[in-house]
Amino acid sequence: MRYALVPILVAILTVQTHAQRRPRRVEASTNPLGMSEAVIEQGRQQYNSSCTACHGLDGDDGDRAPALKGRRRFVRSSDQDLYEAIRNGIKGTLMPASPLKENEVWTIVAYVRSLRASAFDAPVEGSVERGREIFWGSAKCGGCHMIQGRGGLIGPDLSNLGDERTGLLIREALTKPRLTIPQGYRPAAIVTVSGETVEGIVKNDHNFSVQMLDRQMKLRLFTSDEIRRIDYGAKSLMPTDWEQRLKPEEFKDLVAFLSRQAKARGRERELPREDLRR
Ligand code: HEC
Ligand code: HEC
Repeated sequence: MRYALVPILVAILTVQTHAQRRPRRVEASTNPLGMSEAVIEQGRQQYNSSCTACHGLDGDDGDRAPALKGRRRFVRSSDQDLYEAIRNGIKGTLMPASPLKENEVWTIVAYVRSLRASAFDAPVEGSVERGREIFWGSAKCGGCHMIQGRGGLIGPDLSNLGDERTGLLIREALTKPRLTIPQGYRPAAIVTVSGETVEGIVKNDHNFSVQMLDRQMKLRLFTSDEIRRIDYGAKSLMPTDWEQRLKPEEFKDLVAFLSRQAKARGRERELPREDLRR
């Protein structure tokens, strides 16, 4: 009797590991309101006013309910499953049925989906081609960032940005200064014992030495007995006023271009946006 269960268990486990190995794909959206940025923004506001008694603000962890954003696998990933969980609640848990109207629930569904999908998988408005021109041209992003082997070294390589970040994180990188500057990108000025001042980005900072990428893009190593002083800059070199510097259309185009940067998605990258939106 007990052994009769073994093949079934094996079958279940096999199915599960297969499901886990499949590359992360986001199910196609069936949201009747679509996933435009306007709908997502309405959903964000609706969520922040209706759901944050338990869940956290902007999809974060809350006091009484889990985070809805992130890159892990979620139990409910289709639009329909999310809609039903929000409309009817989740039986046997604290998650209540919602008194919101049907349309209001759908805007929240669009918002929750936008928090989860990588930028590459989420629909974005804007022209990738025009975004490319802005990146390498007027905005001079390429002076500091590399994509596919071309560009500068001061900022991180963005060749895989669309696969690693959500659209929200990309927009935030362009519009909000970070609270802490990530390791490897802290600007500093080193004053040497011999009186020289070298400005650049600190790449590595050990007890006995500091490695710096200087303004001329040369990597320089200073041992601690060569250094008189290091002054760290308080602000990242990454400009975060792109919403003011660019026209609204240009900003969208730039985000569209950035969200398409995904190294492992070669063939898919060639597909027009509409095919991915289905
Ligand atoms: C009274 C507290 C409470 C409120 C208010 C609440 N939730 Fe929840 N929610 C929970 C809890 C607890 C869970 C985890 C349920 C579980 O254990 O599966 C949950 C789970 C969820 C899930 C499922 C997560 C997943 O992917 O499986 C979604 C989606 C969700 N909530 C959305 C919302 C939205 C949208 C609102 C506002 C309209 C909302 N919740 C309001 C407590 C709450
Ligand atoms: C003067 C150099 C400089 C310029 C110009 C610049 N960046 Fe940056 N950027 C940086 C640095 C340094 C970082 C890393 C530190 C940080 O995030 O604050 C960064 C971080 C980023 C990130 C976050 C990367 C991640 O892994 O999350 C994105 C996205 C980005 N830049 C895009 C752009 C775009 C698009 C432009 C042009 C509109 C641009 N940058 C212009 C220096 C620059």
